[in-house]
Amino acid sequence: MKPNDKKIWNIIGQDEDRWRKKKKRSEDFQTVDAVIDLYTAKQLSQLQEKGFLGSITGTIASGKESGVFLAELGPEGEKNCEALSLSSPIVVKIFRTSTLNFKQIIHYIDGDRRFQKYSKKTHHIINLWVEKEYSNLHRSSLAEINVPKPILVKKNILLMELLGKDGVPYPLLRYTPDAVTKSTLTQILDQTKQLFQRANLVHADLSPFNILMGDGTPYFIDMSQSVLFSHPKALEFLKRDLRNIISFFSMRGIEVPDESEIFDEITRDYPDRDLIIQ
Ligand SMILES: Nc1ncnc2c1ncn2[C@@H]1O[C@H](COP(=O)(O)OP(=O)(O)O)[C@@H](O)[C@H]1O
Ligand SMILES: [Mg+2]
Repeated sequence: MKPNDKKIWNIIGQDEDRWRKKKKRSEDFQTVDAVIDLYTAKQLSQLQEKGFLGSITGTIASGKESGVFLAELGPEGEKNCEALSLSSPIVVKIFRTSTLNFKQIIHYIDGDRRFQKYSKKTHHIINLWVEKEYSNLHRSSLAEINVPKPILVKKNILLMELLGKDGVPYPLLRYTPDAVTKSTLTQILDQTKQLFQRANLVHADLSPFNILMGDGTPYFIDMSQSVLFSHPKALEFLKRDLRNIISFFSMRGIEVPDESEIFDEITRDYPDRDLIIQ
């Protein structure tokens, strides 16, 4: 189902205009705690004032470049999420503006037709990076790939579906030894194929650290770096993804298929790059 993102964007846009007009003070951007600086806190409170977000109820993960939290939707958020068949709790992913590796992320933005002209200003690149994850998750969920449905993006904040049961997030494949089976491998390779063929995307950071396991089903997460298959390095990234997954299963004694055969199967009908219309 198509998320009702336009409406959300419009309402948030009004807020952003108001914020832009205000004089920003440098202390607003200083990091107060590990993840939430004052600027981010302001974005969060605007989401709360507009009723999209309720309270943040817990921390799921706190990494170098992002913090991932459990949260309640606000009343307006609940209304908008009905169309997505989503309800509380949800996930709030906050990108840390001070530690994102710009040199690294530019490789995944340059060459993507969706982002041909962009400002090189630091905060614009961060916003683009977050929008890119939103766009990739949106595209993937429309193609019925197992990913969290994105709800909305605001500056360095992304709201999305919680992948979990009874409010508890699913575990990572890396920490779910029971899930390291032939069936899981087959499903991951099939999802990678569907991602390429139906959503025209390559994950580009596929690993047991970016796959959640829920009741025997693998879910892909963490898609800021995912690229369209027309990206000049898309096939190189796909090969690396396949190698990461296949070697993980192979090292744990699972019988694995030949990497190049899988690559050929996925890309067999790959159209001429120049004919791809996005
Ligand atoms: N939608 C989600 N549902 C449940 N857990 C999630 C979700 N998104 C992220 N997580 C958890 O948060 C962690 C970090 O998220 P991820 O998107 O991989 O960010 P990073 O870029 O910091 O690796 C993941 O390893 C996973 O445990
Ligand atoms: Mg990750």
